[in-house]
Amino acid sequence: MSKILVTGGLGYIGSHTVVELLAHDYEVVIIDNLSNSSIEVLNRIKTISQKNPEFIKLDLREKQNVFQFFNTHTNLAGIIHFAASKAVGESVEKPLLYYENNVNTLVYLLQNCKKHTIENFIFSSSCTVYGEPDTLPITEDTPVKPATSPYGKTKKISEEILQDTCSVTPLKTIALRYFNPIGAHDSGLIGELPMGIPQNLVPFITQTAIGLRKELNVFGNDYPTPDGSCIRDYIHVVDLAKAHVVALQRLLSGKNKTPFEVFNIGTGKGSSVLEVVNTFEKVTRKKLPYKIVSRRAGDVIAVYADTTKAYKELGWKAQKTLEEALLSAWKWEQKIRTQ
Ligand code: NAD
Ligand code: WQD
Repeated sequence: MSKILVTGGLGYIGSHTVVELLAHDYEVVIIDNLSNSSIEVLNRIKTISQKNPEFIKLDLREKQNVFQFFNTHTNLAGIIHFAASKAVGESVEKPLLYYENNVNTLVYLLQNCKKHTIENFIFSSSCTVYGEPDTLPITEDTPVKPATSPYGKTKKISEEILQDTCSVTPLKTIALRYFNPIGAHDSGLIGELPMGIPQNLVPFITQTAIGLRKELNVFGNDYPTPDGSCIRDYIHVVDLAKAHVVALQRLLSGKNKTPFEVFNIGTGKGSSVLEVVNTFEKVTRKKLPYKIVSRRAGDVIAVYADTTKAYKELGWKAQKTLEEALLSAWKWEQKIRTQ
């Protein structure tokens, strides 16, 4: 079976995707520098899959080591590139770290794709490239807006780098624009491991419910939405992981229509912050302490995907509900606190 390099494969989305790839009998090589993950995740992937993916601890910013890796790992059929820094606020404070970690690393990988004739590339993009959209739901033709953070800019530039490369080399790329990934694997063995105080809604909710945080701050209830709180498209991470497998199959079987393609990966359903809170309380039967505070700088009002293209072209559709995703996030939180 084809050998696939997964960068950032011990991270949140990467680890779930490795599990899906192994379930589809792909041979997997993982690169991760463990800057935002733990080596324990590798053992858990092995436990879930009963398979033994190769792991190389490597920092993709180290150009020479990256070239060395590709000299010793031949016959790679494709790359799924997750490795990146992803904290929006931190990217404002440390833009150069973000440009180096998210852009330089992509360039090194692409130089090696050219050198070693690796033609299939899946890239982790983000709905952040749409900014505050003029129309909803967001299709792939919805105009990309100027990014508001260095993190967002790295995703936009990366897509452009990939598009330019695809037009002059044999490379084929699918950029998946993720909406808001949440939840954890059914096994309870892998999930999101935020370092420090979570910036994202669902880890903050689960840490509050377990007593690590006093209360959730709901950032604004005066937005022009039905209940006044912001709307997002929360997608179960296992559904998201599966999208990578079908995208890879599309490239490997040459079914892509153009060398560079983009797909929205969301559920197609928008949920407000307060709806997420209420749903969490309903499925866990726990009262979640929260208070309404002022808006968070930089938040867009409402974002949710039109997923028609992913369904028509990839045959992919999110299967899991918000209820299932929140319950899995809660189970994961309970599990990591009792280990
Ligand atoms: P994550 O931090 O859990 O995973 C990223 C992994 O990459 C980590 O294990 C980290 O140790 C590794 N890594 C980082 N820099 C590296 C380097 N220089 N060399 C080697 N390994 C490195 O993040 P995630 O949530 O799994 O996100 C994966 C990708 O998806 C990222 O590109 C992110 O920007 C993108 N994305 C994430 C979200 C989200 O909300 N989680 C949304 C849209 C897009
Ligand atoms: C969701 C909603 C908050 C925390 C971020 C990145 C984006 C993408 C996904 C990578 C918002 C509200 C949150 C809290 C709250 N990542 N909230 N209290 O901002 O949609 O997107 O992650 O590409 O680029 O910007 O996700 O989970 O931070 O927030 O009220 O303590 O929850 O205001 O409306 P966001 P989020």
